[in-house]
Amino acid sequence: MTTKVLVVGGAGYIGSHMTRYLLGKDVPTVVLDNLSNGHKQAVPLGVPFYHANMQERAMVEKILEKEKITHVFHFAAHAYVGESMTQPLKYYDNNVAATVALLQAMQNTGVKFFIFSSSCATYGIPQQLPITESSPQQPINPYGHTKLVIENLLRAMAAQKQIGYAALRYFNASGAAYGIGEDHRPETHLIPLALQVALGQREKLQVFGSDYPTPDGTCLRDYVHVSDLASAHWLALKKLTAPGDALELNLGTGKPSSVMEVVQACRQVTGHAIPVEMFPRRPGDPAELSADNTLAKKVLGWSPAYTELTQIIQDAWGWHRQNPEGYRQASQPTAAVSS
Ligand code: UFG
Repeated sequence: MTTKVLVVGGAGYIGSHMTRYLLGKDVPTVVLDNLSNGHKQAVPLGVPFYHANMQERAMVEKILEKEKITHVFHFAAHAYVGESMTQPLKYYDNNVAATVALLQAMQNTGVKFFIFSSSCATYGIPQQLPITESSPQQPINPYGHTKLVIENLLRAMAAQKQIGYAALRYFNASGAAYGIGEDHRPETHLIPLALQVALGQREKLQVFGSDYPTPDGTCLRDYVHVSDLASAHWLALKKLTAPGDALELNLGTGKPSSVMEVVQACRQVTGHAIPVEMFPRRPGDPAELSADNTLAKKVLGWSPAYTELTQIIQDAWGWHRQNPEGYRQASQPTAAVSS
């Protein structure tokens, strides 16, 4: 059976990098995206692109059959924690209901393998650090809950040998590769916001909380390069050989950085002062989230290539500097890039 991948959410930040990675491996790849958050320009020329909702089951079934898809990668979640608190229905509708429809379409057409973008948000406030996969999953916001609902569904389906799946729990996806990058509207993530200050698009960076029980008082996060996420997905795909196979893995470097360390690294990379202003804590932010990635390393043979924050920021800066308006002015990226 020839591997052929449908990347759902392939026009988004992580999905578009995944698509490039697969092309670099010569894996036939198809993208489905409703462009609610993604950017058509992020999809390489020559890759079949379906502008559709994963909730449209009949349409997805047609695509899966016509394209002879063997594996589905799911990147099409809404992922703003704060928005999930104020608009929970939006999150359950897309991240749960539409994902269920996608899984039904897969079952109806005999597609057996699913690689799911899960999140460290499924753990909630960690009881121990770094976080291992056996830590209790107790999300503290609807976003994390929606990811956990799907993980639970996948477990139940795998127990019945109805699917082989990987639930990959990302920590803080960051960086850029292949001439594409990160462009969220609105942007809420630390690194792109700091780089927007360096570009003169914002006056200051707001630092949310400087009184955490951490060495410099600001939150610690585990920033993992988007191309390391892509390589882990590829390795996970190769590990799944039969329905019933189940992988649940943390994807992080295991090396947390504080907000102020990120700012300092952005200053170093950009040569810009990046003024900051201290703000109160952002509700729902745990003091530290860092991955124990031992299991992913052991099971997948994965090892993040990017272990230095400055390397990650250099790549992000390269894209932001060349595309200060993001995809609003980006030129059409070229087709395949070797991995
Ligand atoms: N931060 C600031 N100022 C900003 C933006 C962020 O100080 O302007 C801080 C945050 O408070 C946090 C850190 O920078 O301490 C990182 O924040 P991000 O918003 O970049 O990332 P998060 O850790 O909040 O979110 C990430 C993913 C989510 C996922 C979450 C799990 O982007 O999808 O981790 O908690 F759900």
